[in-house]
Amino acid sequence: MILYLLEIIMDDVERLKSKAGIAACDFIKDGMKLGLGTGSTVHYTVIEIGRRISDEGLNVVGVPTSEVTRELAEKVGIPLITLAESGGLDLIIDGADEFDDNFSLIKGGGGALTREKIVAQSSKSMVVVADDRKQVSVLGAFDLPVEVLPFEWERTRDRISSMCPGKVSLRGGSSPFITDNGGYILDCRFGASISDPQSLEITLLSIAGVVEVGLFVDICDAVVLASNGGVLTLINQSGCLR
Ligand code: 5RP
Repeated sequence: MILYLLEIIMDDVERLKSKAGIAACDFIKDGMKLGLGTGSTVHYTVIEIGRRISDEGLNVVGVPTSEVTRELAEKVGIPLITLAESGGLDLIIDGADEFDDNFSLIKGGGGALTREKIVAQSSKSMVVVADDRKQVSVLGAFDLPVEVLPFEWERTRDRISSMCPGKVSLRGGSSPFITDNGGYILDCRFGASISDPQSLEITLLSIAGVVEVGLFVDICDAVVLASNGGVLTLINQSGCLR
C-alpha cells in the first residue's frame, strides 16, 4: 500500500515536471540560439525542442550545460554549437532546486552549476522550469552546492565550514561525485537562512579552491511553475521578459 502511494506521488511529480518543461518552450522563437539546462525537469524541454524541430521545422541551435544534456540533445536532433561559435545566446531554459520571491536561485543539484552559470551569463534571458516544491520564501533548505577543486579540497571545505551553520559534505563521500569539469561538489547545509544570496555568493567565491557557487542572483527572468492547479508563468518585473 505504502509503495503504491509512493508510486502515485512520484508519477504526480513527474507529470508536473513534464508540464513545466514543455510549457517553457512557448518562449522559444524560430532562429533562436538556446542554452540547454540540466536536470530532470528541463529534460522534458530538451525532448520537446527536438520534437518541434522534427515535426514543425523549428530552426534553433543549442549549447548544452552538461555532458548528459549534450547526449540527450544529440539523440533528439538539436543542432549543437559552442558558446564561442554562438556569439551570445537568446535564451537559456534550465531547472532549479529552489527559487525565492526575488527570482534568486539555488542550482547544482545535478552538479552542473558551473557550466549552467557560464551559459546563463551568456544568454539575454533565462527561464526556469520547476514544480511547486521548488518555491521558497528564503533560500537554503536545499543544501547549497559549491563546486571546488579536488586539490586540497579539505582545506576549502574547512574555510566554507567556518561560515556555514550546518554540515558541509563532499558529494559522493568516499567515492566523490566528479563534475564534467573534473571538480568536486560540497553540499553546504545553510538551512532556510540565505536572505542575502548575493553577499553569500561573493564571500564564498573569495575562498581559494572554490570554482563556482550554486547561487544565481539577478539572472532569472521568469519561472514556469507547475502545480496541481495548473501551469503558471511568474515574470520577474526586474528582468528582461516583463
Ligand atoms: C543541475 C541543476 C538542476 O537544474 C537542478 O538540480 C534542478 O533539477 P531537477 O529539475 O532535476 O529537479 O541545477 O545542476
